[in-house]
Amino acid sequence: GAPVKFNMSKIEPGAMVTVEWRGKPVYVVRRTPEALASLKKVEEQGVIRDPKSEAPQQPKYAQNESRAIKEEFGILLGVCTHLGCSPLYRPDVGAADLGGDKWLGGFFCPCHGSKYDLAGRVYTGVPAPLNLEVPKHFYESENVVIIG
Ligand code: FES
Repeated sequence: GAPVKFNMSKIEPGAMVTVEWRGKPVYVVRRTPEALASLKKVEEQGVIRDPKSEAPQQPKYAQNESRAIKEEFGILLGVCTHLGCSPLYRPDVGAADLGGDKWLGGFFCPCHGSKYDLAGRVYTGVPAPLNLEVPKHFYESENVVIIG
């Protein structure tokens, strides 16, 4: 499949847009300052399986806290690493129905309850084994990203 071009300036802060690439959903998220702060808190809680994205299938630029080239923008394959359902975007901090105190928002897979943070990092104690995949991408200009 051909690479896909997307202009980040189309996304409101806090919103997520789904872009189709090779028949798969790619989630593009514009993270707020609160969302970025939550990434640190999640790490401090010790509830993330692979906080530094050390699993070998991650691109180098995903091996940081925000798993991104530009921390404001998250680009993630919308495919659960358990059995491939599409996780739901649930950026709301503290949603009690998704695990109370420890849930700081992110992605929730409705199929078997896997939870990921706002950088797509998988929580411990859920069926999904790996962080959401970061597809290969680069910035062609300030706001335009090429995915694939
Ligand atoms: Fe997502 Fe099973 S497919 S938890």
